[in-house]
Amino acid sequence: MKTLSKTLIARAALATAALAAGAVHAGEVEVLHWWTSGGEAKAASALKSTLQGQGHTWKDFAVAGGGGDNAMTVLKSRVVSGNAPAAAQIKGPALQEWAAEGVLANIDGVAKAEKWDSVLPPVVANVMKYKGNYIAVPVNVHRVNWLWTSNAAFKKAGAKVPTNWDEFFVAAEKLKKAGIIPVAHGGQNWQDFTTFESVALGVGGADFYKKALVQLDQASLNGATMTKVLDTFKKVKSYTDKNAPGRDWNLATAMVIKGEAGMQLMGDWAKGEFMAAGKKPGADFGCSAAPGTAKSFTFNVDSFAMFKLKNEANIKAQNDLAAAIMSPAFQETFNLNKGSIPVRLGMDLSKFDDCAKLSAKDFVDTAKSGSLVPSVAHGMAIPSAAAGAIQDAVSQFWNDDKMSTKDAQAKIASAAKTK
Ligand code: BGC
Repeated sequence: MKTLSKTLIARAALATAALAAGAVHAGEVEVLHWWTSGGEAKAASALKSTLQGQGHTWKDFAVAGGGGDNAMTVLKSRVVSGNAPAAAQIKGPALQEWAAEGVLANIDGVAKAEKWDSVLPPVVANVMKYKGNYIAVPVNVHRVNWLWTSNAAFKKAGAKVPTNWDEFFVAAEKLKKAGIIPVAHGGQNWQDFTTFESVALGVGGADFYKKALVQLDQASLNGATMTKVLDTFKKVKSYTDKNAPGRDWNLATAMVIKGEAGMQLMGDWAKGEFMAAGKKPGADFGCSAAPGTAKSFTFNVDSFAMFKLKNEANIKAQNDLAAAIMSPAFQETFNLNKGSIPVRLGMDLSKFDDCAKLSAKDFVDTAKSGSLVPSVAHGMAIPSAAAGAIQDAVSQFWNDDKMSTKDAQAKIASAAKTK
């Protein structure tokens, strides 16, 4: 009898210990992101199920708004009030700005265990580190300089997919004559700038882009090439429809999906929308480099910054999330839905379509040739203050038909001095 009760007590103790261990293991991760469109939401749910598969709880903190401006505003107020999420979609130089505030966690433990230094391109790994320690984990590589075309619209108009800006306007005229909206656009700052930077790259080339938009060189910003870029950019506007102001990017993509519009200049998250709508690249729609940019690549790497947490179980869940994001299985599923390519090197791309394969090839080729450039519209290139001021000036020019190119150019050059 005595022995029996001892055994029972021992078993009960073991069970309690196991429960306690389980409790430490299962944590909650609150994740801030802005992936709310059709394709984006599918990709986000891949992240959620990966985390849940490990027994953790996913607390969704989605803030709608393409390009993430709304999400960043909400994030700031949460962090200021001492209530940061575990992980937030933060990218490029903004990672350094957040890390300098002392609010991000050092995730070197998981990075070392998972050998991130050897499976990430160094140019990406460096952005994920602050003072040599990983503070964020990258998810993907988006290419921004794409032109999306509707096969049905181009067929109806008898137009040819353009490879340079002269051809672009020829195609736009034909589409217009056929009663099709030539360019699907959403008039929001970040979308205006997404178009602007593709025009700058196509008209001026990668060296001009780097000097003017990355180094913010005043001579380039005030020079003749920039004048040509601005004139071309403004000409694009004349082929957009009157309902463009304020339109969300995915609604613009839907216009191309339905063949109501012929073209959209947008990063490859747009492909996620075509795929979510059951459309096939090649058969239904075309992906080609934005006019004049076939030999360049504007990159936009999504990443999650990890915030400092106190609860042990939640820290464990946060580290598990970071490890899962970099795993080959997740990189494949997520990027198939998102329209981007894996950020992890050496991945098998056999399940990816031709747009993704072209992107992967051009990413490697342009890195070698020096024409791989960071996207300004997507927070990859310059500190947020200067980026915001330049984007405002570019959108003012786009919206105000009375503003001269000369005035716009002076405004942009002076915005570039914002510290
Ligand atoms: C992000 C993408 C997102 C897009 C539209 C970009 O800045 O990098 O992940 O799909 O904005 O919201």
